[in-house]
Amino acid sequence: MIFIKQINEKEIDLCYELDSNTISLWSKKQWANEFKKEGTKIFGLLISNLIIGICVIQVVLDEAQINYFVVNKKFRKKGFGSYLMCYLIKKCEKSNLKKLLLEVSQNNFTAEKFYSRFEFSTVGIRKNYYKDGSHALLKEKNLTTK
Ligand SMILES: CC(C)(COP(=O)(O)OP(=O)(O)OC[C@H]1O[C@@H](n2cnc3c(N)ncnc32)[C@H](O)[C@@H]1OP(=O)(O)O)[C@@H](O)C(=O)NCCC(=O)NCCS
Repeated sequence: MIFIKQINEKEIDLCYELDSNTISLWSKKQWANEFKKEGTKIFGLLISNLIIGICVIQVVLDEAQINYFVVNKKFRKKGFGSYLMCYLIKKCEKSNLKKLLLEVSQNNFTAEKFYSRFEFSTVGIRKNYYKDGSHALLKEKNLTTK
């Protein structure tokens, strides 16, 4: 069974494990900080008890910043990332948020293509933002609110 749920700090090990096996963005301490940050919500995409995708957002006023979005390597290109993104968009729209924001490396072509499909557009660039010297593209998507 596939489902999405909000993850709490008790499940930090699962987040850390998925991260370590994919993009290794945060240490366990950094994950612990994420759980404590005001406005931060962490969603997990699960197949039975296995977390195969994670998305971390931080809501500030009427906008949500996507700070983390990953699918387990073995499960990519099967529609799971899109499933998680569609869930997130609907969830944010229901909460009357106006915009989704994110940053992605100019070299991350897979993610860029993925976000373009969801109509994120580039609104700015942070030069030499990443350790490898690549630029960060700042992207935004306007949400449909009632
Ligand atoms: C970006 C990422 C989350 C996408 O996750 P995903 O599960 O592969 O996403 P999807 O399967 O929904 O879509 C990916 C592609 O597979 C295609 N696809 C989906 N189902 C498919 C299927 N059954 N058969 C063939 N292709 C399929 C989609 O059309 C899409 O193609 P496109 O992006 O070239 O248009 C994933 O690549 C990832 O975790 N990357 C590393 C982390 C990362 O870079 N995160 C973003 C940092 S800002």
